Amino acid sequence: MSEDKISGRPLYLPGDRTPADDRARMIRVDQAGEYGAPRIYAGQMAVLRRGRAAGAIREMAEQEQRHLAQFDRLVAERRVRPTVLSPLWHVAGYALGAAAALLGERAAMACTVAVEEVIDGHYARQEEDLADSDPELAEAIQTARADELAHRDTALAHEATQAPGYELIAGAIKAGARIAIWLSERI
Ligand SMILES: [Fe+2]
Ligand SMILES: [Fe+2]
Repeated sequence: MSEDKISGRPLYLPGDRTPADDRARMIRVDQAGEYGAPRIYAGQMAVLRRGRAAGAIREMAEQEQRHLAQFDRLVAERRVRPTVLSPLWHVAGYALGAAAALLGERAAMACTVAVEEVIDGHYARQEEDLADSDPELAEAIQTARADELAHRDTALAHEATQAPGYELIAGAIKAGARIAIWLSERI
């Protein structure tokens, strides 16, 4: 991006993304992620309802609902176009949660570790990009990010890394989560 020689203001060329576009993208992808997250936990709960970790999973799911409410509000207030992929995340999130849980409680927790690690990195980059430019959005991201890290720790405490094939499961889920982020920013 270049600057207007006289005013010193940034000059946007056709096709350049403005800071407002960037923020809309952030809110769109974050809402999409927070929309998918409770679906993952719902899928896990469908399988592990009576398991040892049911209470912990329910608690994490409730926090995800609060994150979603926060980003739903930002989408509405700032008139951001939501992703068109919600129906896909609705199904894919649930399927991922249920499939991991069918492999066992530790695999379900491995899924949580993988997702939360990707989201942590994603939120950290957003926080850096925002710096002081949008305190309201920055705070929403910080709040969610702190919870996501706590979810990762909960999953680690439930022996996520002892799941058979942990590296494979976590690697595949991380790759999927990154693709979901890339898509939800754009469409
Ligand atoms: Fe979340
Ligand atoms: Fe989370």
